[in-house]
Amino acid sequence: MSDQQAQKQAAAKAALSYIEDDMILGVGTGSTVNCLIELLPTLKLAGAVASSQVTEDKLRALGIEIVDLNFAGTLDVYIDGADEVNANLQLIKGGGGALTREKIVAAASNKFVCMVDASKSVEILGRAFPVPIEVLPQARSYVARQLARLGGEPVYREDFVTDYGNVILDTYDLDVSDPVALEQTLNNIVGVVCNGIFAANQADVLLKASSNGVETLLR
Ligand code: 5RP
Repeated sequence: MSDQQAQKQAAAKAALSYIEDDMILGVGTGSTVNCLIELLPTLKLAGAVASSQVTEDKLRALGIEIVDLNFAGTLDVYIDGADEVNANLQLIKGGGGALTREKIVAAASNKFVCMVDASKSVEILGRAFPVPIEVLPQARSYVARQLARLGGEPVYREDFVTDYGNVILDTYDLDVSDPVALEQTLNNIVGVVCNGIFAANQADVLLKASSNGVETLLR
């Protein structure tokens, strides 16, 4: 097993301490979350709200009941991974294309626990990883032009459609030095459904794995 995979597993194991019996758990998407999902059958969950169809299918296959967010009320805990995280626990997410559903479930939860391996920590968001932006299909070219005006270089994610039937523009070279401001600016472009900057609602808890163990950072 690679060191990175071992770190993902260690972070997922550490996340178990935030899950209580009979809880309806918000479950994110991605390879780190998959490590967590494998551990869930050992727990006594009331159910789970999934942040993507992929996660929903995996949870169902393990016999975990899927709850519609509209009937779940406010969730106590949402657990997910990230593509990048800064020292303020602000994130870039959406590498797996589930950013909108992830942002909704995170917003509807009291506590967002984020699990990362050492490769995800950055000083400034968006320098290495592009900002994924979910866009209504008809608005793709218009939004791309607006992103270029902001200094970004949008790249259409080929052969990918989100759970909501939209497309993704992975946008390089945006200035993410003020993540809250840029998140808002991107949301204001007509045709943008959601963007992968999680800054106004950042993580509450960061479980940061490295080869030395798992460090817990709080907002
Ligand atoms: C999916 C996401 C994931 O949380 C993010 O891509 C991290 O994935 P991984 O755990 O596989 O590195 O935002 O939309």
